[in-house]
This record gives sequence, C-alpha cells and structure tokens, in this order.
Amino acid sequence: MIYEGKAITVKALESGIVELNFDLKGESVNKFNRLTLNELRQSVDAIKADGSIKGVIVTSGKDVFIVGADITEFTDNFKLSDEELVAGNLEANRIFSDFEDLPVPTVVAINGIALGGGFEMCLAGDYRVISESAKIGLPEVKLGIYPGFGGTVRLPRVIGVDNAIEWIASGKENRAADALKVGAVDAVVKADKLKEAALDLVKRAISGELDYKAKRQPKLEKIKLNAIEQMMAFETAKGFVAGQAGPNYPAPVEAIKSIQKAANFGRDKALEVEANGFVKLAKTSVAESLIGLFLNDQELKKKAKQYDEVAQDVKLAAVLGAGIMGGGIAYQSASKGTPILMKDIREEGIQMGLNEAAKLLGKRVEKGRMKPEKMAEALNAIRPTMSYGDFGNVDIVVEAVVENPKVKQIVLAEVEDVVREDTILASNTSTISINLLAKALKRPENFVGMHFFNPVHMMPLVEVIRGEKSSDAAVATTVAYAKKMGKNPIVVNDCPGFLVNRVLFPYFGGFSKLLGFGVDFVRIDKVMEKFGWPMGPAYLSDVVGIDTGHHGRDVMAEGFPDRMAVEGKTAVDVMYEANRLGQKNGKGFYAYETDKRGKPKKVSDPQAYELLKSIVVEQREVTDEDIINFMMIPLCLETVRCLEDGIVETAAEADMGLIYGIGFPPFRGGALRYIDSIGVAEFVALADKYADLGALYHPTAKLREMAKNGQKFFG
Ligand SMILES: NC(=O)c1ccc[n+]([C@@H]2O[C@H](COP(=O)([O-])OP(=O)(O)OC[C@H]3O[C@@H](n4cnc5c(N)ncnc54)[C@H](O)[C@@H]3O)[C@@H](O)[C@H]2O)c1
Repeated sequence: MIYEGKAITVKALESGIVELNFDLKGESVNKFNRLTLNELRQSVDAIKADGSIKGVIVTSGKDVFIVGADITEFTDNFKLSDEELVAGNLEANRIFSDFEDLPVPTVVAINGIALGGGFEMCLAGDYRVISESAKIGLPEVKLGIYPGFGGTVRLPRVIGVDNAIEWIASGKENRAADALKVGAVDAVVKADKLKEAALDLVKRAISGELDYKAKRQPKLEKIKLNAIEQMMAFETAKGFVAGQAGPNYPAPVEAIKSIQKAANFGRDKALEVEANGFVKLAKTSVAESLIGLFLNDQELKKKAKQYDEVAQDVKLAAVLGAGIMGGGIAYQSASKGTPILMKDIREEGIQMGLNEAAKLLGKRVEKGRMKPEKMAEALNAIRPTMSYGDFGNVDIVVEAVVENPKVKQIVLAEVEDVVREDTILASNTSTISINLLAKALKRPENFVGMHFFNPVHMMPLVEVIRGEKSSDAAVATTVAYAKKMGKNPIVVNDCPGFLVNRVLFPYFGGFSKLLGFGVDFVRIDKVMEKFGWPMGPAYLSDVVGIDTGHHGRDVMAEGFPDRMAVEGKTAVDVMYEANRLGQKNGKGFYAYETDKRGKPKKVSDPQAYELLKSIVVEQREVTDEDIINFMMIPLCLETVRCLEDGIVETAAEADMGLIYGIGFPPFRGGALRYIDSIGVAEFVALADKYADLGALYHPTAKLREMAKNGQKFFG
C-alpha cells in the first residue's frame, strides 16, 4: 500500500503500475470535500516520491466516479476574502497540476457520473476510458459559478473551444458516446471491461507504443487558434450564450470570457485567470441564491425520503374527474408507471382526458423521448370508467371534480364507501379547506389534500395538505405517490390557499393597488419580467383564467379579511363582469390571436384599457422600483406569515414551494432568501415606507424582532 486514507487509497497492482482509488468512507458517493482534496495532495506526493512507479490508473470504489465538489462546503467557503479564496483555489489547482505533471502516464477509468470537480480530475489525467453508461460534464453554471479546478483551462485544450463552450455554458451532462465523438474521452467500453481497458492503455503508454507526453502537451500550452479564429469563436459564442442565459445569469458568459482571456497563456497562468474569475462569481448573490436553492432541494429530498418508511405501496391509483387536471394526473401517473383508473360522469369528459394524455405521449414519442411501445403501455395504464366497479383494488384516489365544496363532499363520501378501509383519499382542490371536506368522511384520517398545478405534466410542485385529522400514513403515502409521479412534494398545513396560493394572492393584491393608481399593466408586466418572473401579473392572470383568479380572490378575502378583503371594484371584477376570462376565451388584460404555430399570442386591446379606467381611484406616479416593491413586499410578508403560522415547516420548503409552484425567479432564491439578501432590517424599513397601502404591507411583530436581533432566515 502506497497511501491509505479515508477517501483515497493508492496500491501497487503489477509491474510498476499503481491504482489510485476514490472511495469516500461513510458516504454513498465520492465527492471533492476538503478531506478528499487533502488526501489527493498526499497521494500525489506519495506517488511522486516513489521512483519505482511506472504508471497510474485512477478508479472509483462507488457506483459513481466523483459527483463533484461538496456543495455543502460552499456557503462557508465563499465567505472568505477574495485573496484567501483565490489563494485556496490556486492551492487546490496545484494538486491537479502536480497529478498532471507526474513523470509517468496516467489513465482515468470513469465508471459512473463524473461531474464538476470529478470531471476536472479526469481532465488532469493523460487518458480517459469511460463505461458506456457513465456521464460527464461541468454543471457549475447551474450554481451561478463556473469550473474552478482547471475545467475552463483544460477542456478547451482537449476538445476545442467550440465544444468546450457548449459543455461549460450549458452545464449539461454528456453521454459516453457523445464524449467520445468530441474527444473528451479516448475509449468507451462495457462496464465490466473498464479496469482492463485502463490497464491496457497505461501499459501501452509505459511501453512507448503510445506517446503520453505528446498527449499531455496541448493541455500545458496556449489554445491553438489564431487571433481571427479566436475572435470568431469567442465573440459569436458570447452573444449567443448571453441571449440564452439572460441578464440575470452571468456565469455562462463569464466562463467564456475567462477561456478567452486565458487563451494565449500556458496552463499555470491560465489557471490564475480562471481563479480570479471564479472568485468574482462565487461572491455574487446569484451564486448564493442558486447554491442555497440546491441545498434546499437536498433538504426537501431528504424530508420526502423520511416519509418512505411510513408510506403504503401505491400499485393502483384512481382519479375522479377527467377534466384539465384529472386528465393531466392520469397521464402523469401512467407515464411514470402507476396504472390509474380515470372516472368521470360524462362520456365526453373521459374522451377529453384520454385525448389529452394521447397528445402528450405522442409529443414525447415525436421528440424521441419515449419509444412507441412505451406510449401504448402508458395509454393502456389509464383505465377509463364511468362506474366504481374496480375501486376495491385502489390504493389512492385523487379527487379532481369541479371546485364546489358540496359536490366534492358528496363525491368523496361516495368513493369512501366503495374503497378499502386503508385506501387514501386525496383532494386536488385549490381553495377549499381540507378540514371542511374531511367532515363528510367516516375515515378523515385517510384523507389529505394533493394540490397539483396546471399543466400537471409541466409543473414540478405538489402541495400535500395535512388536515387536522390526516394520519401520518396518509401524508406519507401521498408524498411517496407524488414522488413516484416525478413531482416535488411539499407537506403543508391546511389554511385558505395553502402555501402557494396564499402567497400569490397578496402579490396580486399589490398588482390591484398599482392598477388603482392608474399604472399601465403592460409596464407592470415588463418590470416584473425584468425582475425575473417568467410572466408578469397581467399575463399570468390571463393564463390562469380571470374566473379562477376571481374565485380564488374571494376565498382568500374571506379567509384573511384583515388584509385581503376587497375594497371596491378591482380589475379582476371588471374583466370578469365583461366576460374577459383570459386566454381561455381569447381576451382578458390582453387579447389573444393564434400564431403560425397555433399557439396563443398576446396583443394589446384598447377595450381592456377602457374597462380599467373605471377602477382608477387616484393617479399616482410610481417608479419601476415602486412597482417591484408594491408587488414583492406583500408576497414576501405573506410567506413570512406562512412560516410563522406553521403552514410550512421550514424556510427552505417555503422558498422551494414558490420556485416550483409559481416560478419565483430562481436566481433570487425564494421569498425568504430575497428578504435575507436585502437584509431583514432593511426589508422591514422598506415595507414601512409603503405602510399606507394597507395591512398587506405591515411586517409581523416577529419579523421586527428578527430585524432587531440581526437574525436571518438562512444561515
Ligand atoms: N385548472 C386549474 O388550473 C387547477 C389547478 C389546481 C387545482 N385545480 C382543481 O382541480 C379540480 C378540477 O379542476 P379542472 O380544472 O380539472 O376542472 P374541469 O371542469 O376541467 O374538470 C372537472 C371534471 O370533473 C367531472 N366531474 C364532475 N362531477 C363528477 C363526479 N361526481 N364524478 C366524477 N367526475 C365528475 C366533470 O365532468 C369534469 O370532466 C378543481 O377542484 C380545481 O380547483 C384546478
């Protein structure tokens, strides 16, 4: 044994060849944490010191190769000063460079995913062999940063500038075959032949049959493009990538700039360029938000996993109502492998649900994401019915009939009589209290809310609503089923609007106030889209449906009259009364035409402006900053209230709910992280400036307390 640590061992194999094996003790995956990095330093030194070694192969003892850096270490790490960060980065890079500079050939055997720092380790070797199913890539930009262990230096020198930019700026994971095509790896082999292939390569390099020094050399030199070629490659890429990423996500373009700046330098100087740019990005609030988001997501997954222990198996599901939501739920369940009965009281309802599912599946087949046989299988897994015949075999029923408490109570009681005693009942209601619906049931412990978002196949969130009487098994089974459907479930407690709609309506409250001051809704949409929302509030109202918004608003006003009561007529009222229901009937705030591809296209409509004149209470000049504050303060404060009221258990879940449920701008991390980024005290002071707008703008006592004590929601 040449080196033995907790993450790495180096042992002699045969005829001067050693194996450097990554196998992090006590973890299911390998990652580049502090410990691993330190041990890599020691391993490389040990190999360097041993004059008898003739070649090195690098392997992994896990299913993965190395998943990347340990992201949990980022938050603390990135708090260091710029100088410390750059120095730390260069020190880490010296380990990779020392490995690269070993006086013997090195071959990396990539058995499973190798991402970020994991793939940068691979790049430091002379040769790379990869197993057929493994994937490699540099996903750092997804965290608002770029590769910092030499990825921006070595990759363009190995696979060329254009390919490297595509890999780094997209952050995508690349299949073995694609990696071979661009020359990121030297051979693709079957998993059980991987080590053999690595050994074969290293032996051929040792014997001189392969010239490993020549293979290594380009990585140490400047990029082989002349000035004109460089300009063409970098300038075109910067324009294109900037357009794709948008102004709120600077990392992809910064990565290109770094590659460009370092293009005419050799390795060591180029690594310095990389380190300086890396540190600049690591300090941005975008990186902080995106890293926070990643960590929140991990926390969510861990929580969802805990429910697995109590969850009952769902082998067969059922959905009541084959409308927009029921059809979507049936499609999602079937396509993810849980067969589902779909019951409706109308034949044409069932046909519509089936058509919708067939359309969605057809699209996946068209795009090559699904094999035609799989499509037939999924369609067969949706079993339409007009009777309760087979409901005795069902493990969970999702109720998605019309949004009417009386109808829902009748339907739920009816289905309770035909299912097993342990079958879980879940309602997809968006506004009705789960505790109220539970009153109609004999076994309220088996009942929860399961709130999907429209369109079901696209929206990643499912709110699982725990009623007063819901059992742990009911909650856990619903969480597990949502996960099996490929969704991100968040468990919340019952209240009007649950988490997501409760927070969304105050945001619309802010919108109403702006319209009351005569502010143009097109301007508001533009400002909020620039702020980072996928669509502005007027457009969103049209997409969701003015009638849905109108109904939801009334429910919320009743639930929280102190701050959400409606004073006088609002825009939603006048639109609703004029039968402008939004996209669904072709006119709302905007009018809708059909574009060449058959998709609705919004155009301005003078009639909408005419209607809105009647609701202006006072003309007020507002700045773009005001528009953001009018809209965001109520949303943020309501999120704070949800956390304080225990509707949602953690700040991480609240923020993720908003990101997955309503497309809150990810680079801002969520409502609570947004408050953190402004500073709690500063946020409270800002809200106080708008206090005359009403209770939606009044911070809670606890938030004032947090401000006074210098507390934050995260860290
Ligand atoms: N559409 C949305 O954006 C959205 C989003 C989240 C939640 N929801 C909720 O989902 C539920 C369904 O909404 P939708 O938009 O799909 O409505 P929808 O009108 O498209 O569909 C309702 C379906 O239920 C059927 N139905 C009525 N009574 C029934 C019964 N007794 N048994 C079986 N089927 C019956 C109707 O025939 C119809 O096909 C509502 O509670 C709604 O609040 C809707």
